[in-house]
Amino acid sequence: MAGANGTYAGRFDGRVAVVTGGAMGIGGAAARRLAREGATVVIADRDEKAGAENVKTITAAGGKASFVACDVTDEAAVRALMEGTVAKHGRIDILTNVAGVTAKKAGVDDTTLEEFRRVTTINIEGTFLCTKYAARAMKARKYGRIINISSTTSIMPTTYGNSPYTASKGAVSALTRQWVMELAEHGISVNAVAPGPTRSPMTEALGPKMLADRLKLIPAGRIGEPDDQAAAIAFLASEEAGYINGQVLVVDGGMTVVRNAAR
Ligand SMILES: NC(=O)c1ccc[n+]([C@@H]2O[C@H](COP(=O)([O-])OP(=O)(O)OC[C@H]3O[C@@H](n4cnc5c(N)ncnc54)[C@H](O)[C@@H]3O)[C@@H](O)[C@H]2O)c1
Repeated sequence: MAGANGTYAGRFDGRVAVVTGGAMGIGGAAARRLAREGATVVIADRDEKAGAENVKTITAAGGKASFVACDVTDEAAVRALMEGTVAKHGRIDILTNVAGVTAKKAGVDDTTLEEFRRVTTINIEGTFLCTKYAARAMKARKYGRIINISSTTSIMPTTYGNSPYTASKGAVSALTRQWVMELAEHGISVNAVAPGPTRSPMTEALGPKMLADRLKLIPAGRIGEPDDQAAAIAFLASEEAGYINGQVLVVDGGMTVVRNAAR
């Protein structure tokens, strides 16, 4: 039963969770939620200042959290993050691959190869590297919950150009299914959350018009909040979700069921 604040007290007691991109936005909310429900949270992010601030927020509320500076595209840093977490906390039960970036708005004929590589490197290679080293730790204990962050762009194109981002999130959904085949026998589930437009530093940087345009497409009548995504992440990380594997859970207020997309 959910508590008064909508969270499940003690749901993650004794669990250790690594949250990449946990400094702000969706990852920031996921880190706070997992900690509020009892997890020991390791926030891994390249933004040291914001990461430290989120740790402060969590610990001030009585939660357990620490910060590790890590660029998810740096293999040595990712390996050190995962091995360091096991050395310090004894285990990794939950990995939430939230670190990600969006691309500059541009049509396919105006997108540079450099931009395509920047976005796909962070979103695909970052998710791959974190999963690679967390899976090793999870396999050793025959338990794990991996939650990737895809996007509604993996199932429905955006109405503006964003080839690198769409490609990267399609890959994240495909890898989610691929890793089930490799990890399920080790007691590890791999699922993804596909957020629709959600208020965060990322979407705020795109300007108010983007979210205002998106709002017209959302039957729920509001833009998503990071806590909406954090609730789905926490569910997939929980014991109750133990038999759910390889799914991409769309959290978009119904946007993807609307077919007559307005431009
Ligand atoms: N906000 C949305 O509308 C939306 C919709 C669909 C999917 N998503 C996805 O959700 C995830 C979080 O998005 P957000 O809106 O909270 O973004 P955000 O920009 O607000 O936060 C992203 C976090 O990831 C970190 N990060 C970025 N690159 C990194 C790297 N190479 N190494 C380590 N950390 C890195 C940033 O420092 C930041 O803390 C992303 O994967 C994004 O693609 C967001």
